[in-house]
Amino acid sequence: MTLPAYALNAQSFPERYEQALVQPLFRPFAEALVEQVGVAAGQRILDVACGTGIVARLAAERAGSTGRVVGLDVSREMLAVAARVAPNVEWRDGTAAALPFGDGEFDAVLCHQGLQFFPDRAAAMHEMRRVLTAGGRLGVATWVPLEDVPFFRDMHRVGERHAGPISDQRHAFGDGDALGALLGSAGFRNVRIARVTRTVTFENRDILQLNAMALVGMSTAGKSKSDNERAALVDLITRDSAEAAKGYTVGEGLAFALTSNIATAEV
Ligand SMILES: C[S@@+](CC[C@H](N)C(=O)[O-])C[C@H]1O[C@@H](n2cnc3c(N)ncnc32)[C@H](O)[C@@H]1O
Repeated sequence: MTLPAYALNAQSFPERYEQALVQPLFRPFAEALVEQVGVAAGQRILDVACGTGIVARLAAERAGSTGRVVGLDVSREMLAVAARVAPNVEWRDGTAAALPFGDGEFDAVLCHQGLQFFPDRAAAMHEMRRVLTAGGRLGVATWVPLEDVPFFRDMHRVGERHAGPISDQRHAFGDGDALGALLGSAGFRNVRIARVTRTVTFENRDILQLNAMALVGMSTAGKSKSDNERAALVDLITRDSAEAAKGYTVGEGLAFALTSNIATAEV
């Protein structure tokens, strides 16, 4: 199984990710990324760490029938959902640090909320540059630091109260200057970083349980517990998260401001 740590070994995670998180949480920023890179008809596009494929799907709408879109991810479980939702896109199993493509094969490479999880970010950036054609465009998005997102900061406090220290990988590369420096070191030109904020809106409160799963999965304590103990911890954190989330309630659901750095650059 190649599920990310925040999936807490749940086989159902990729489907829940697609059903509960993609539209409200990821799509608004995926749209901004595709727009800022300027994906256009006929282009060859690579979506690195594609997950269930939202960026690849948006890119495919723009690239049209004369373009080529490939989504790559290290998780076969995430790719299985991507292939079910969009069977016409090309999906590839692989790691960002060793892309299974030739030099200069793409006009644009996109990476949405993936870079912060890579064990070797420099190698991944080197690979993204290698597979881009001369003049090709790069777009990379990573969430800002945890302290800059009050909703996730508040839920994190609840999680740490029950699970002890949590190293939240989702916010692990939130410094825009560090992101820009990484791209510069990989040889990219015209590096630009934009801080993009959206109000994300959920029609129900499923995010609280999914977030509690993520927190337990990324906690030190969670790693040494049995599946049953982890499930009990998730229940506890979900219950207390509901109390802490009162200020974010809108009707039956929740809404909060989220910010992502979006970096664009050229070869
Ligand atoms: C938060 S998800 C983002 C998915 C998608 N880009 C989106 O916006 O919905 C992070 C993804 O990164 C993938 N990932 C983590 N490390 C990776 C690596 N070294 N190479 C390729 N994909 C990786 C995970 O499997 C997961 O699907």
